[in-house]
Order: sequence, then C-alpha cells, then structure tokens
Amino acid sequence: MPYTPLTKSAPRGVGSYDVLGYAVSKEEADKLLQSERGREALSADNGAVKITEELIDLGRNTFYQETFGNEYLFTDIVGILDGPINLGSISKAVLALKGKPTTNLQIPIDQDITVGSRTFKAGTVINTGLDVPKGSLFPLGVITHIKNAKPRVGITCVLCHATVSEETGRILEGAINTDINLGPLIAIASNSAALFRQTDVNPTKISPGQHGYINNEGEKAYLPDAKILEDEVDAAILSWAPGNFVSNGDLKNNSAQIPSSYTHGSWPYAWSGVASIGWFHGLTTLNNAVFGINADPTTTVDASESVLGIDKQVYLGAMLQNASNPKFRLPEGVQPSEFLERVDPTPGEPGINSTIRMPEYPKGSLFMQNGLMATTPGLPVAAQLNGMSAWQNTLAPPPHKSADIETLEHGAAVFAQANCAQCHSDRYFTNHKVIPVKEIGTQPARAPASRSFAQLFVPPDTYPSNVPVPLPQSPPVLLVTFNPQYPHVWFCFCNCFEVVPSYDLLFRSDQ
Ligand code: HEC
Ligand code: HEC
Repeated sequence: MPYTPLTKSAPRGVGSYDVLGYAVSKEEADKLLQSERGREALSADNGAVKITEELIDLGRNTFYQETFGNEYLFTDIVGILDGPINLGSISKAVLALKGKPTTNLQIPIDQDITVGSRTFKAGTVINTGLDVPKGSLFPLGVITHIKNAKPRVGITCVLCHATVSEETGRILEGAINTDINLGPLIAIASNSAALFRQTDVNPTKISPGQHGYINNEGEKAYLPDAKILEDEVDAAILSWAPGNFVSNGDLKNNSAQIPSSYTHGSWPYAWSGVASIGWFHGLTTLNNAVFGINADPTTTVDASESVLGIDKQVYLGAMLQNASNPKFRLPEGVQPSEFLERVDPTPGEPGINSTIRMPEYPKGSLFMQNGLMATTPGLPVAAQLNGMSAWQNTLAPPPHKSADIETLEHGAAVFAQANCAQCHSDRYFTNHKVIPVKEIGTQPARAPASRSFAQLFVPPDTYPSNVPVPLPQSPPVLLVTFNPQYPHVWFCFCNCFEVVPSYDLLFRSDQ
C-alpha cells in the first residue's frame, strides 16, 4: 500500500532491544553483547526482544492485515453483512469512485430499515467514514476471507488508526480515522446484541423471551427477549459519534475518541495507565487489548460473573441466540457454553479469536488484562504484538502545513505561559505520568471502567518471546516486573483505581 511519507519519522530503533519494558539502545546493546552476562541479559529467555527490520515489517503487516479471527465474530455472530451495507453495496460504492480516493465511502440503502428506534428510508445515504485509498478496490481495514465459498469480513487496526490524504489519495499511517462511523455500521447488523457488553444494556435486566436454554444448574430457563435486546443495543450503538468507539466492556455506553498511533516516546499508553508495564512500555499490552479483549466478548466469558455479575450462560446465550450464521446460532434447549465449544473455530482455547492462555487465566493481570494473548499459530509468543509496537514507534505525524512562523512562535509563548509544559514536556509533549482524575479534572465517567477487572488482577507474567505457538507443555514463564525507572506509572494506576494497596510489593524487582 502506498502511504504518504512523513516529515521526520521517529527513529526505527533497529539493533536496539526491549527487555520487557526496559529500553536498551543499540550502543548499550553492542557493549552488553560483548560479555556472557550481557548476552544473557539480552536473550529472549530473559524477556528481550531485538528490534529488527523483519520485526517492524511483521508489525506493519499485522496492523494492516491481521484480524486474529474476528471475522467469525463480526460476520457469523454479529451479522455485519446482513443489512444494507454488505459486500455488494460496498463494492458498488467503491467502483463508483472510479479509482478516486475517499475518506468517507457513501453507501445508499435500497430499502426502508428500522434500527433501534430510528428508521432509515430507502435512498438514505450512509456516511460510513470508511476510507478508500486511490486506486484501491476495498476500504482500508476491512478484510475479506473466503472459506468454503462463504465470504466473511473482519477488521484490522487501519480501520481506525489510519486515514487517506484527500490531496494525494495515499495512506496516512497512524493518523486518526476521525469520521469512521461505527454506529450505523454495527447497529445495522442483524445481531448487534452480541456486542451488548460495549453498551449500557444489561441482558439480565431484560424480561425473558421465548428462547429456552440450559443454565449452570442444568435446569431449563429463558434468555432475555431477543428483539428487545437487539433494539436497545442498536439504539445505544447508534449514539456513538463518528471517530468514536466503546473500548471498555463494562456495560457503560462511554465511547472514546480514537487516538493517533504516533507512539514513539509517548508512553504511558491509554488514559488510565492500564497499559504501562511489559514490552515497549506497555504498548504491546494495549495492542493485545484491542483484539484479545475488545473485539471479542467471548474472551471474557469466564470472568463475566465476577466482573459484570452476568451468569456465563446468559452472557453467551444473549450473544448467540440470534447469531447470523445458523451454525453459530444457539439451538433451543442447549447450554450456551457447551454449544460454543462445539462451534468455536479455535476449540480448546477461550474465545473465538485466536488467543493463547496466559498462566493465570481466567484471572487477568496488568500485562494481559483478561489473561489471554492474541496470537497466530506458527508465530512465536507476542511476535505480532511486539512487531506492531516496534512499527507504531516508527510513525510520526505528517508535515505541518503552516509556514507562518509568527503564529507558531505566538503559540509556543502561550503554551509556556499557561504552564502546559508542566505535563506536556519535551519532544513528545508528555512527562510520562498518569495524572489522577482528581488533579486533571477531566470527565471521570470512564475511571471505574477498568476497576472491576483490575481488582481481580494477579501478578503479571508472560512466556518469553521465543516460545512457539501453539504452546508446548509447561512453557517457561517470566515475571513481568514493574519498571523501577518509572515508578509513578504503577503508583498512579493504584491511586486512580484503588487497586489492592499492597500490590506494589509484588512488583518490586530484585534485578
Ligand atoms: C474500531 C476502531 C479501532 C480499531 C479497529 C483499533 N483501535 Fe486502537 N483505539 C481505538 C480507540 C477508540 C482507542 C482509545 C481507547 C480508550 O481510550 O479506551 C484506541 C487506542 C489505541 C491505542 C492507545 C494509543 C495511546 O496513545 O494511548 C493503541 C496503541 C491502539 N489503539 C492500537 C491498536 C491496534 C494495534 C489495533 C489493531 C490490532 C487497533 N488499535 C485497532 C479504536 C480502534
Ligand atoms: C496537569 C497536567 C496537564 C496540564 C498542565 C495540561 N495538560 Fe493537556 N493533557 C493532560 C493529560 C493527562 C491529557 C490526556 C488526557 C487523557 O488521555 O485522558 C492531556 C491531553 C491534552 C490534549 C489532547 C492530546 C491528544 O493526543 O488527544 C491536548 C491538545 C492538550 N492536553 C493540550 C494542553 C494545553 C494547550 C495545555 C496548557 C494550556 C495543557 N494541555 C495543560 C495533562 C495536562
């Protein structure tokens, strides 16, 4: 894919290492590699990852292409192609562009459709916000897989974390897709109800319908009414503004804006410090959170009772009673977890997406929040996740257009005078701290989002990056220590969420 070159790309870091969050420059590494002890410190067995051109390439490809199997969730369960936005209408809209680029693929719908409480009349044009680069035959970040003549679509990182330059028609890697309109794209699907966890619709609060299932006690019970559930979830999802998405599965309808992916030097990642330990200052953890947790609600089934107070069978039953593909649709009078195990494309592993269990599963840790890591069999542990970290760290914003030096200087003066640099310091505009909500004074609604997860966290650990996937019997395990170079990060996380106070003791490194 052609992309728009950057003014000043971040250093590629080839030859440097990341030892589970401790950055080691190429110069330091060259010195270390001269001694036996140094080689040991920089070995994969010790948690070191060497940054190479191959790793960066793997990361870029993953960012563009890898779905980790989410096409099953989106196509077979959610039914993203069942409505008026489907492969036919997408292709037609792209062909109508005649090779021209767009940042907002417009798709007209051909018949009246009611979603949530809203009716879209035939002929209404949906602003999808999907981007199509110049000359491309398909929108960015939408991947089609065809298996046994059944087409499925999944999504990749570039759906949200890249856009197309209107001037050149080329891809701006890492820039925000500010108008991606996930609300209608998802709400129009036949079984958006499967994503209830990303809204404030709690299935246990919805009156039972006609669909019988077998509960944990082996008795017959009834699932929440499918139509009411679907309508309420649709209405919640339709409220998301373009460029926003609900990434927390905490039964709150708090959508967040997509951030840019210019990650070099800008850690800690996320807004809460939840991605602050492990490889690449926590960036690998955040990469995993996306498709290891967020895009697959079935990965948190085993924790649904403790985290959300929703019984595992109701949780799965609500997702599957109206699944798009009959193969994934829960039959009458069956236990949902047994049924999913039979149809799961990744049998034996939790969730539908392609993941491996961390040693602590079903508990989570600050390193892998749901105790699962997104992986592709055939590639070693965290290879793609670390690759995406290494690659995102090479990205930088496109050129600044203004040549008006006076205005820039005026801005810099105001910035200094207003004391912005107290927090937005240095080249990457950050002091690397997570500022407690009380101090920063921003909207606090999302603060409790991670709390119930975090309260169940156990000490973080990982398999080294040279362990193959599928995992061998009893793979080696490393403790992911909290980095004493950056104590405030963990400290703030505790403060923000009031996690078990004695936790810092568990994270003390003896190295
Ligand atoms: C559907 C849109 C969407 C997709 C697809 C998506 N993201 Fe994100 N991403 C978001 C949103 C929204 C946030 C902000 C989340 C929050 O604050 O809770 C985010 C945040 C992030 C961050 C934090 C950046 C920072 O500076 O704090 C990283 C890193 C990230 N995503 C990586 C990825 C990777 C890697 C993928 C692909 C595996 C991906 N994202 C796919 C929407 C998306
Ligand atoms: C007390 C620390 C602090 C001070 C002082 C501060 N900020 Fe921030 N700022 C933050 C934090 C923390 C965030 C990120 C909030 C989040 O992610 O939830 C932020 C976010 C931002 C963002 C959004 C960045 C993005 O990537 O979306 C901008 C722009 C910004 N600040 C500008 C300013 C300006 C201009 C000033 C001075 C007038 C300033 N800030 C002063 C802490 C501070």
